[in-house]
Amino acid sequence: MSKLKELISLGAGHVRSANVEDYQALGGYKALEKAMGMGPKEIIAEVLEAKLLGRGGAAYPAGKKWAQLLDIPENPKYIVCNADEGEPGTFKDKLILDKVPLRLIEGMTIAAYVFSAQKGYIYVRGEYRAIQKRMVKALQSAREHNLLGESILGSNFSFDIEIVSGAGAYVCGENSALLNSTQGTVGRPRIKPPHLAEVGLFLKPTLVNNVESFSCIPSIVLMGGKEFLSLGHPESGGTKLICLSGHSMRPGIYEVPLGKISLREAIFDPELGGGVKGGRFKFAHLGGQSGPIVSEKGLDITYSYTDLRKNGLSVGSGAIVVLNDSVSVLEYLKSVIQFFIHESCGKCVPCREGGKRVLRYLLMLSEGKMGQREIQDLKRLLNVMRRASFCGLGQSVPVALLSAFKEFPECLIKKGSFAA
Ligand SMILES: Cc1cc2nc3c(=O)[nH]c(=O)nc-3n(C[C@H](O)[C@H](O)[C@H](O)COP(=O)(O)O)c2cc1C
Ligand code: SF4
Repeated sequence: MSKLKELISLGAGHVRSANVEDYQALGGYKALEKAMGMGPKEIIAEVLEAKLLGRGGAAYPAGKKWAQLLDIPENPKYIVCNADEGEPGTFKDKLILDKVPLRLIEGMTIAAYVFSAQKGYIYVRGEYRAIQKRMVKALQSAREHNLLGESILGSNFSFDIEIVSGAGAYVCGENSALLNSTQGTVGRPRIKPPHLAEVGLFLKPTLVNNVESFSCIPSIVLMGGKEFLSLGHPESGGTKLICLSGHSMRPGIYEVPLGKISLREAIFDPELGGGVKGGRFKFAHLGGQSGPIVSEKGLDITYSYTDLRKNGLSVGSGAIVVLNDSVSVLEYLKSVIQFFIHESCGKCVPCREGGKRVLRYLLMLSEGKMGQREIQDLKRLLNVMRRASFCGLGQSVPVALLSAFKEFPECLIKKGSFAA
Protein backbone atom coordinates (compact mmCIF):
# COMPACT_ATOMS: atom_id res chain seq x y z
CA MET A 1 0.00 0.00 0.00
CA SER A 2 1.22 3.47 -0.83
CA LYS A 3 2.02 5.50 2.22
CA LEU A 4 0.37 8.53 0.70
CA LYS A 5 -3.38 8.92 0.34
CA GLU A 6 -5.40 11.85 -0.88
CA LEU A 7 -8.63 11.41 0.97
CA ILE A 8 -8.72 14.73 2.75
CA SER A 9 -6.36 16.78 0.66
CA LEU A 10 -7.84 15.51 -2.62
CA GLY A 11 -5.72 16.97 -5.39
CA ALA A 12 -4.52 19.75 -3.11
CA GLY A 13 -0.97 19.01 -4.20
CA HIS A 14 -1.91 20.12 -7.72
CA VAL A 15 -5.10 22.16 -7.40
CA ARG A 16 -5.73 25.44 -5.66
CA SER A 17 -9.22 26.71 -6.15
CA ALA A 18 -11.97 28.51 -4.32
CA ASN A 19 -14.35 27.75 -7.16
CA VAL A 20 -17.24 25.27 -6.94
CA GLU A 21 -16.77 23.99 -10.53
CA ASP A 22 -13.13 23.07 -9.84
CA TYR A 23 -14.10 21.40 -6.61
CA GLN A 24 -16.89 19.47 -8.32
CA ALA A 25 -14.35 18.22 -10.87
CA LEU A 26 -12.62 16.55 -7.88
CA GLY A 27 -15.89 14.89 -6.85
CA GLY A 28 -16.92 17.74 -4.57
CA TYR A 29 -20.48 18.17 -3.31
CA LYS A 30 -21.53 14.60 -4.14
CA ALA A 31 -21.41 13.88 -0.41
CA LEU A 32 -23.75 16.75 0.44
CA GLU A 33 -26.24 15.54 -2.16
CA LYS A 34 -26.06 12.04 -0.71
CA ALA A 35 -26.29 13.30 2.88
CA MET A 36 -29.44 15.28 2.10
CA GLY A 37 -31.10 12.01 1.18
CA MET A 38 -30.18 10.52 4.56
CA GLY A 39 -31.50 11.15 8.06
CA PRO A 40 -29.38 12.87 10.78
CA LYS A 41 -29.12 9.66 12.82
CA GLU A 42 -28.05 7.71 9.75
CA ILE A 43 -25.23 10.18 9.06
CA ILE A 44 -24.08 10.15 12.67
CA ALA A 45 -24.09 6.34 12.62
CA GLU A 46 -21.60 6.48 9.74
CA VAL A 47 -19.39 8.99 11.59
CA LEU A 48 -19.48 6.72 14.65
CA GLU A 49 -18.59 3.67 12.60
CA ALA A 50 -15.73 5.57 10.94
CA LYS A 51 -14.16 6.10 14.40
CA LEU A 52 -13.07 9.56 13.35
CA LEU A 53 -11.04 11.09 16.18
CA GLY A 54 -10.93 14.88 16.34
CA ARG A 55 -7.96 16.12 14.36
CA GLY A 56 -7.47 19.35 16.33
CA GLY A 57 -5.33 17.70 19.00
CA ALA A 58 -7.57 16.31 21.73
CA ALA A 59 -8.66 13.26 19.66
CA TYR A 60 -12.22 13.26 20.97
CA PRO A 61 -14.44 10.92 18.89
CA ALA A 62 -16.35 13.08 16.41
CA GLY A 63 -19.31 10.67 16.20
CA LYS A 64 -19.78 10.77 19.97
CA LYS A 65 -19.66 14.57 19.97
CA TRP A 66 -22.24 14.71 17.17
CA ALA A 67 -24.52 12.19 18.89
CA GLN A 68 -24.40 14.19 22.14
CA LEU A 69 -25.35 17.38 20.33
CA LEU A 70 -28.22 15.70 18.49
CA ASP A 71 -29.69 14.66 21.83
CA ILE A 72 -29.96 18.29 22.94
CA PRO A 73 -33.44 19.57 22.06
CA GLU A 74 -32.68 23.30 22.29
CA ASN A 75 -32.35 25.35 19.11
CA PRO A 76 -30.77 27.15 17.31
CA LYS A 77 -27.54 25.20 17.12
CA TYR A 78 -24.31 26.61 15.75
CA ILE A 79 -21.60 24.93 13.69
CA VAL A 80 -18.12 26.31 14.37
CA CYS A 81 -14.89 25.35 12.70
CA ASN A 82 -11.65 25.73 14.60
CA ALA A 83 -9.19 26.99 12.00
CA ASP A 84 -7.02 28.83 14.51
CA GLU A 85 -4.08 26.50 13.87
CA GLY A 86 -1.89 28.09 16.52
CA GLU A 87 0.05 25.00 17.58
CA PRO A 88 3.71 25.50 16.61
CA GLY A 89 4.83 23.02 13.97
CA THR A 90 1.27 22.62 12.70
CA PHE A 91 0.31 23.91 9.27
CA LYS A 92 -1.94 21.20 7.86
CA ASP A 93 -5.26 23.07 8.13
CA LYS A 94 -3.68 25.77 6.00
CA LEU A 95 -3.41 23.27 3.14
CA ILE A 96 -7.15 22.62 3.18
CA LEU A 97 -8.12 26.27 3.73
CA ASP A 98 -5.83 27.47 0.99
CA LYS A 99 -6.18 24.75 -1.63
CA VAL A 100 -9.50 22.98 -1.15
CA PRO A 101 -11.56 25.32 1.06
CA LEU A 102 -14.81 23.95 -0.34
CA ARG A 103 -13.97 20.58 1.14
CA LEU A 104 -14.26 22.11 4.61
CA ILE A 105 -17.35 24.09 3.61
CA GLU A 106 -19.03 20.91 2.34
CA GLY A 107 -18.19 19.09 5.59
CA MET A 108 -19.62 21.92 7.68
CA THR A 109 -22.75 22.07 5.51
CA ILE A 110 -23.34 18.35 6.08
CA ALA A 111 -22.98 18.96 9.83
CA ALA A 112 -25.44 21.85 9.62
CA TYR A 113 -27.90 19.61 7.79
CA VAL A 114 -27.60 17.00 10.57
CA PHE A 115 -28.36 19.56 13.29
CA SER A 116 -30.71 21.81 11.28
CA ALA A 117 -28.29 24.64 11.99
CA GLN A 118 -28.66 27.83 10.02
CA LYS A 119 -25.42 29.57 10.89
CA GLY A 120 -21.80 28.53 10.96
CA TYR A 121 -18.51 30.28 11.68
CA ILE A 122 -14.97 29.51 10.62
CA TYR A 123 -12.51 31.01 13.10
CA VAL A 124 -9.36 31.44 11.03
CA ARG A 125 -5.90 32.15 12.40
CA GLY A 126 -5.24 35.90 12.12
CA GLU A 127 -1.92 35.38 10.34
CA TYR A 128 -3.73 33.58 7.47
CA ARG A 129 -4.98 36.92 6.13
CA ALA A 130 -4.68 36.03 2.43
CA ILE A 131 -6.37 32.68 3.07
CA GLN A 132 -9.27 34.44 4.79
CA LYS A 133 -9.87 36.37 1.57
CA ARG A 134 -9.85 33.15 -0.45
CA MET A 135 -12.27 31.61 2.02
CA VAL A 136 -14.64 34.53 1.48
CA LYS A 137 -14.44 33.82 -2.28
CA ALA A 138 -15.11 30.12 -1.73
CA LEU A 139 -18.17 30.93 0.37
CA GLN A 140 -19.42 33.29 -2.33
CA SER A 141 -18.93 30.63 -4.99
CA ALA A 142 -20.92 28.14 -2.88
CA ARG A 143 -23.74 30.69 -2.49
CA GLU A 144 -23.82 31.31 -6.25
CA HIS A 145 -24.27 27.57 -6.78
CA ASN A 146 -27.06 27.32 -4.22
CA LEU A 147 -24.81 25.24 -1.96
CA LEU A 148 -25.01 27.80 0.83
CA GLY A 149 -27.69 30.31 1.70
CA GLU A 150 -31.45 29.93 1.37
CA SER A 151 -33.04 26.61 0.30
CA ILE A 152 -29.85 24.69 -0.41
CA LEU A 153 -30.24 22.51 -3.53
CA GLY A 154 -33.92 23.47 -3.64
CA SER A 155 -34.66 21.98 -0.22
CA ASN A 156 -36.05 23.68 2.87
CA PHE A 157 -32.59 23.57 4.46
CA SER A 158 -30.85 26.95 4.72
CA PHE A 159 -27.37 27.52 6.07
CA ASP A 160 -24.63 30.11 5.75
CA ILE A 161 -21.11 30.57 7.04
CA GLU A 162 -19.17 33.61 8.22
CA ILE A 163 -15.40 33.99 8.53
CA VAL A 164 -14.07 35.28 11.84
CA SER A 165 -10.44 36.28 12.19
CA GLY A 166 -8.30 35.39 15.17
CA ALA A 167 -5.73 37.90 16.37
CA GLY A 168 -2.68 35.76 17.10
CA ALA A 169 -3.53 34.30 20.52
CA TYR A 170 -2.71 30.61 20.86
CA VAL A 171 -5.23 30.20 23.69
CA CYS A 172 -8.05 31.16 21.31
CA GLY A 173 -7.60 27.73 19.72
CA GLU A 174 -9.03 26.23 22.91
CA ASN A 175 -12.63 25.68 21.92
CA SER A 176 -14.37 27.68 24.66
CA ALA A 177 -11.94 30.62 24.29
CA LEU A 178 -12.56 30.40 20.56
CA LEU A 179 -16.30 30.79 21.06
CA ASN A 180 -15.79 33.73 23.42
CA SER A 181 -13.59 35.40 20.84
CA THR A 182 -16.06 34.61 18.02
CA GLN A 183 -18.90 36.29 19.86
CA GLY A 184 -16.77 39.35 20.59
CA THR A 185 -15.96 38.73 24.25
CA VAL A 186 -12.46 38.25 25.70
CA GLY A 187 -10.75 35.20 24.20
CA ARG A 188 -10.23 33.30 27.43
CA PRO A 189 -11.40 29.77 28.28
CA ARG A 190 -14.71 29.16 30.06
CA ILE A 191 -15.41 26.70 32.81
CA LYS A 192 -16.72 23.31 31.60
CA PRO A 193 -19.24 21.85 32.29
CA PRO A 194 -21.60 23.03 30.96
CA HIS A 195 -20.15 21.62 27.77
CA LEU A 196 -20.25 23.55 24.53
CA ALA A 197 -22.81 21.12 23.16
CA GLU A 198 -25.20 22.55 25.77
CA VAL A 199 -23.97 26.10 26.30
CA GLY A 200 -21.79 27.22 23.43
CA LEU A 201 -21.77 30.17 21.08
CA PHE A 202 -24.19 32.90 22.24
CA LEU A 203 -25.03 30.38 25.02
CA LYS A 204 -26.62 28.03 22.48
CA PRO A 205 -25.76 24.38 21.70
CA THR A 206 -22.69 24.37 19.49
CA LEU A 207 -20.58 21.94 17.53
CA VAL A 208 -16.87 22.77 17.37
CA ASN A 209 -14.65 20.70 15.15
CA ASN A 210 -11.26 21.16 13.57
CA VAL A 211 -10.78 21.90 9.83
CA GLU A 212 -9.39 18.45 9.11
CA SER A 213 -12.17 16.75 11.10
CA PHE A 214 -14.89 18.50 9.09
CA SER A 215 -12.97 17.75 5.90
CA CYS A 216 -13.16 14.01 6.61
CA ILE A 217 -16.97 14.10 6.69
CA PRO A 218 -17.59 14.11 2.90
CA SER A 219 -15.43 10.97 2.53
CA ILE A 220 -17.25 9.25 5.38
CA VAL A 221 -20.65 10.02 3.86
CA LEU A 222 -19.59 8.93 0.38
CA MET A 223 -17.68 5.74 1.15
CA GLY A 224 -19.45 4.85 4.40
CA GLY A 225 -17.99 4.68 7.89
CA LYS A 226 -16.89 1.07 7.51
CA GLU A 227 -14.64 1.72 4.54
CA PHE A 228 -13.26 4.89 6.08
CA LEU A 229 -12.38 2.90 9.20
CA SER A 230 -10.65 0.22 7.15
CA LEU A 231 -8.32 2.83 5.64
CA GLY A 232 -6.87 3.55 9.04
CA HIS A 233 -6.39 1.91 12.42
CA PRO A 234 -9.18 -0.31 13.87
CA GLU A 235 -9.61 2.23 16.71
CA SER A 236 -9.25 5.40 14.63
CA GLY A 237 -10.27 5.38 11.02
CA GLY A 238 -9.03 7.19 7.97
CA THR A 239 -5.96 9.14 7.11
CA LYS A 240 -4.14 11.89 8.94
CA LEU A 241 -2.34 14.95 7.69
CA ILE A 242 1.08 15.10 9.30
CA CYS A 243 3.35 18.14 9.29
CA LEU A 244 7.08 17.49 9.15
CA SER A 245 9.32 20.41 10.04
CA GLY A 246 12.53 21.35 11.84
CA HIS A 247 15.53 19.38 10.55
CA SER A 248 13.41 17.11 8.40
CA MET A 249 14.99 16.50 5.00
CA ARG A 250 11.62 16.91 3.28
CA PRO A 251 9.56 19.27 5.41
CA GLY A 252 5.92 19.50 4.40
CA ILE A 253 2.45 18.03 4.78
CA TYR A 254 1.76 14.37 4.05
CA GLU A 255 -1.49 12.46 4.23
CA VAL A 256 -0.83 9.03 5.75
CA PRO A 257 -3.14 6.14 6.64
CA LEU A 258 -3.40 5.87 10.43
CA GLY A 259 -1.95 2.69 11.87
CA LYS A 260 -0.25 1.61 8.65
CA ILE A 261 3.15 3.26 8.96
CA SER A 262 5.59 3.62 11.83
CA LEU A 263 6.81 6.86 13.34
CA ARG A 264 10.26 6.00 12.00
CA GLU A 265 8.85 5.69 8.48
CA ALA A 266 7.11 9.04 8.81
CA ILE A 267 10.46 10.65 9.58
CA PHE A 268 12.83 8.61 7.43
CA ASP A 269 10.93 7.09 4.51
CA PRO A 270 12.09 8.67 1.22
CA GLU A 271 8.44 9.23 0.21
CA LEU A 272 7.77 11.01 3.49
CA GLY A 273 10.25 12.92 5.70
CA GLY A 274 13.30 11.42 3.97
CA GLY A 275 15.52 11.64 7.06
CA VAL A 276 17.32 14.36 8.95
CA LYS A 277 19.46 17.18 7.64
CA GLY A 278 22.50 18.80 9.23
CA GLY A 279 23.31 15.96 11.60
CA ARG A 280 21.97 12.76 13.12
CA PHE A 281 18.46 12.35 14.48
CA LYS A 282 18.26 13.34 18.13
CA PHE A 283 14.57 13.67 18.95
CA ALA A 284 11.18 14.60 17.58
CA HIS A 285 8.52 16.71 19.18
CA LEU A 286 5.07 15.29 18.44
CA GLY A 287 1.79 17.13 18.19
CA GLY A 288 3.14 20.65 18.70
CA GLN A 289 4.58 22.34 21.79
CA SER A 290 1.94 20.75 23.99
CA GLY A 291 2.99 17.24 22.94
CA PRO A 292 5.69 14.81 24.08
CA ILE A 293 9.28 14.36 22.97
CA VAL A 294 10.49 11.05 21.59
CA SER A 295 14.07 9.87 21.12
CA GLU A 296 15.49 7.43 18.57
CA LYS A 297 14.61 4.38 20.68
CA GLY A 298 10.91 5.27 20.59
CA LEU A 299 10.53 5.51 16.81
CA ASP A 300 9.60 1.91 16.01
CA ILE A 301 6.02 2.38 16.91
CA THR A 302 2.92 2.41 14.74
CA TYR A 303 1.71 5.89 13.93
CA SER A 304 -1.81 5.74 15.33
CA TYR A 305 -3.63 7.41 18.21
CA THR A 306 -3.84 4.10 20.07
CA ASP A 307 -0.26 2.94 19.67
CA LEU A 308 1.27 6.30 20.44
CA ARG A 309 -0.93 6.75 23.51
CA LYS A 310 0.02 3.29 24.81
CA ASN A 311 3.63 4.43 24.72
CA GLY A 312 3.05 7.74 26.46
CA LEU A 313 3.12 9.67 23.17
CA SER A 314 0.39 11.34 21.12
CA VAL A 315 -0.58 12.27 17.58
CA GLY A 316 -1.98 15.62 18.73
CA SER A 317 -2.36 17.97 15.81
CA GLY A 318 -0.14 15.80 13.59
CA ALA A 319 2.97 17.95 13.99
CA ILE A 320 6.32 16.14 13.91
CA VAL A 321 9.16 18.56 14.57
CA VAL A 322 12.43 16.77 13.85
CA LEU A 323 15.60 17.86 15.68
CA ASN A 324 19.17 16.83 14.92
CA ASP A 325 22.07 16.31 17.32
CA SER A 326 23.17 19.95 17.13
CA VAL A 327 20.21 20.79 19.36
CA SER A 328 20.50 20.85 23.14
CA VAL A 329 17.43 19.28 24.73
CA LEU A 330 17.59 21.74 27.59
CA GLU A 331 17.82 24.78 25.31
CA TYR A 332 14.93 23.40 23.29
CA LEU A 333 12.83 22.95 26.44
CA LYS A 334 13.54 26.53 27.43
CA SER A 335 12.11 27.73 24.13
CA VAL A 336 9.03 25.54 24.67
CA ILE A 337 8.43 27.06 28.10
CA GLN A 338 9.02 30.57 26.79
CA PHE A 339 6.28 29.94 24.26
CA PHE A 340 3.84 28.91 27.00
CA ILE A 341 4.78 31.90 29.18
CA HIS A 342 4.15 34.20 26.23
CA GLU A 343 0.82 32.59 25.37
CA SER A 344 -0.62 32.15 28.89
CA CYS A 345 -3.78 34.24 29.10
CA GLY A 346 -3.10 34.92 32.77
CA LYS A 347 -6.51 33.83 34.01
CA CYS A 348 -5.26 31.20 36.47
CA VAL A 349 -2.28 31.13 38.83
CA PRO A 350 -0.83 27.65 38.11
CA CYS A 351 -0.25 28.55 34.47
CA ARG A 352 0.46 32.28 34.79
CA GLU A 353 3.03 31.92 37.58
CA GLY A 354 3.98 28.27 37.06
CA GLY A 355 5.46 28.76 33.58
CA LYS A 356 7.83 31.47 34.81
CA ARG A 357 8.95 29.30 37.71
CA VAL A 358 9.55 26.33 35.44
CA LEU A 359 11.78 28.51 33.26
CA ARG A 360 13.75 29.58 36.33
CA TYR A 361 14.34 25.92 37.20
CA LEU A 362 15.51 25.21 33.67
CA LEU A 363 17.98 28.10 33.88
CA MET A 364 19.27 26.71 37.18
CA LEU A 365 19.58 23.32 35.53
CA SER A 366 21.74 24.70 32.74
CA GLU A 367 23.93 26.41 35.34
CA GLY A 368 24.32 23.10 37.20
CA LYS A 369 22.57 24.53 40.25
CA MET A 370 19.79 21.98 40.64
CA GLY A 371 19.95 19.77 43.71
CA GLN A 372 17.72 16.87 44.73
CA ARG A 373 15.34 19.22 46.47
CA GLU A 374 14.95 21.56 43.50
CA ILE A 375 14.28 18.64 41.16
CA GLN A 376 11.55 17.40 43.47
CA ASP A 377 10.11 20.93 43.66
CA LEU A 378 10.12 21.18 39.88
CA LYS A 379 8.31 17.85 39.55
CA ARG A 380 5.76 18.94 42.15
CA LEU A 381 5.23 22.21 40.32
CA LEU A 382 4.68 20.39 37.02
CA ASN A 383 2.17 18.14 38.72
CA VAL A 384 0.29 21.15 40.09
CA MET A 385 0.25 22.76 36.63
CA ARG A 386 -1.06 19.58 35.05
CA ARG A 387 -3.81 19.12 37.62
CA ALA A 388 -4.80 22.65 38.57
CA SER A 389 -4.45 24.74 35.41
CA PHE A 390 -7.79 25.97 34.16
CA CYS A 391 -7.38 24.90 30.55
CA GLY A 392 -5.38 22.65 28.28
CA LEU A 393 -2.68 25.26 27.74
CA GLY A 394 -1.38 25.18 31.30
CA GLN A 395 -2.22 21.50 31.70
CA SER A 396 0.03 20.57 28.79
CA VAL A 397 3.11 22.55 29.90
CA PRO A 398 4.57 19.51 31.74
CA VAL A 399 4.18 17.12 28.78
CA ALA A 400 7.33 18.02 26.83
CA LEU A 401 9.41 18.36 30.00
CA LEU A 402 8.40 15.10 31.62
CA SER A 403 8.88 13.15 28.41
CA ALA A 404 12.30 14.75 27.94
CA PHE A 405 13.25 13.86 31.56
CA LYS A 406 12.36 10.28 30.71
CA GLU A 407 14.07 10.11 27.34
CA PHE A 408 17.18 12.19 28.09
CA PRO A 409 17.94 12.12 31.80
CA GLU A 410 21.63 12.56 30.99
CA CYS A 411 21.02 15.82 29.10
CA LEU A 412 19.06 17.33 31.92
CA ILE A 413 21.48 16.51 34.67
CA LYS A 414 24.58 18.66 34.67
CA LYS A 415 27.86 17.84 36.36
CA GLY A 416 27.78 18.91 39.98
CA SER A 417 24.05 18.40 40.05
CA PHE A 418 22.50 15.08 40.93
CA ALA A 419 20.81 12.25 39.02
CA ALA A 420 16.98 12.30 38.99
C1 LIG B 1 -4.38 25.98 24.16
C2 LIG B 1 -5.13 25.18 23.15
C3 LIG B 1 -5.01 25.49 21.81
C4 LIG B 1 -5.73 24.77 20.86
N1 LIG B 1 -5.58 25.11 19.54
C5 LIG B 1 -6.31 24.45 18.62
C6 LIG B 1 -6.23 24.84 17.25
O1 LIG B 1 -5.48 25.75 16.87
N2 LIG B 1 -6.99 24.14 16.35
C7 LIG B 1 -7.83 23.12 16.75
O2 LIG B 1 -8.53 22.56 15.93
N3 LIG B 1 -7.91 22.74 18.03
C8 LIG B 1 -7.18 23.39 18.97
N4 LIG B 1 -7.30 23.02 20.28
C9 LIG B 1 -8.25 21.93 20.63
C10 LIG B 1 -9.66 22.47 20.75
O3 LIG B 1 -9.89 22.93 22.06
C11 LIG B 1 -10.73 21.41 20.45
O4 LIG B 1 -10.41 20.22 21.11
C12 LIG B 1 -10.88 21.13 18.96
O5 LIG B 1 -11.09 22.31 18.22
C13 LIG B 1 -12.08 20.21 18.74
O6 LIG B 1 -12.14 19.81 17.40
P1 LIG B 1 -11.85 18.30 16.99
O7 LIG B 1 -12.60 17.43 17.97
O8 LIG B 1 -12.39 18.19 15.61
O9 LIG B 1 -10.38 18.09 17.09
C14 LIG B 1 -6.58 23.71 21.26
C15 LIG B 1 -6.69 23.38 22.61
C16 LIG B 1 -5.96 24.10 23.54
C17 LIG B 1 -6.10 23.74 24.98
S1 SF4 C 1 -4.23 27.50 31.92
FE1 SF4 C 1 -3.16 29.34 31.19
S2 SF4 C 1 -4.15 29.83 29.27
FE2 SF4 C 1 -5.52 28.43 30.37
S3 SF4 C 1 -6.87 29.74 31.57
FE3 SF4 C 1 -5.14 29.32 32.89
S4 SF4 C 1 -3.75 31.05 32.51
FE4 SF4 C 1 -5.19 31.02 30.82
